[in-house]
Amino acid sequence: MKSLQLDIEDPVAIRTFAAEAAAQFPALNVLINNAGIMRPEKLLAQQPDLADAEAMVTTNLLGPIRLTAVLLPQLQKQPSSAVINVSSGLAFLPLAITPTYCATKAAIHSYTLSLRYQLRATTTEVLELVPPYVATDLMSGASDPRAMPLGAFIVEVMKILKTQPTPPEICVENVKSLRFAAESGKFSAIFEGLNAAMADVH
Ligand SMILES: NC(=O)c1ccc[n+]([C@@H]2O[C@H](COP(=O)([O-])OP(=O)(O)OC[C@H]3O[C@@H](n4cnc5c(N)ncnc54)[C@H](OP(=O)(O)O)[C@@H]3O)[C@@H](O)[C@H]2O)c1
Repeated sequence: MKSLQLDIEDPVAIRTFAAEAAAQFPALNVLINNAGIMRPEKLLAQQPDLADAEAMVTTNLLGPIRLTAVLLPQLQKQPSSAVINVSSGLAFLPLAITPTYCATKAAIHSYTLSLRYQLRATTTEVLELVPPYVATDLMSGASDPRAMPLGAFIVEVMKILKTQPTPPEICVENVKSLRFAAESGKFSAIFEGLNAAMADVH
């Protein structure tokens, strides 16, 4: 395994990175848009420059759009390739203390649907990973017993990724109540319950 470093907030760096990656790794055939940041926002007491909101849009939404755009020609050269976008259960039912974060994830879900449709006649597969609350450093999850342990999440995701054909949305059991909240007819109850239960997360 080798690595190249990239600041996904920097559009110039994204272009340089893509050129370097394609030159160094001509067989590159998978793009996982995983980088993300999640910051709580009090909408009645925001910084005037909206720094947190703009950083989340730049990292979580513009980042994957820009990186996909520059790497798509490289992916399309391969006999088979894949783009995996990481959204969230919160794309489908927002946690109100993180409004811009949830909005970027809803947007990534929508973008992924369109990308998949536009690439349907090509050999590039487009997948969406929809994580639940997982114990990572994203916000307070690492020390929150309510978060799914990272190891268990990875095991379940890898099992789903091995199924043939791979489902376009990778949803572990824990995320299904959020992912299908609207379809279940219990959206309002789940929204109220989640936001009451998670008001302390920061
Ligand atoms: N954990 C959850 O509960 C959860 C739930 C749903 C969705 N997700 C999504 O899962 C993805 C991974 O998050 P995580 O939970 O693994 O959180 P994490 O441990 O905080 O990891 C986030 C990653 O994003 C990278 N990153 C942040 N800003 C970046 C930038 N400007 N340029 C390049 N890389 C940057 C970080 O790199 P550095 O460490 O180098 O900064 C880090 O590797 C995110 O898209 C997140 O929204 C997570």
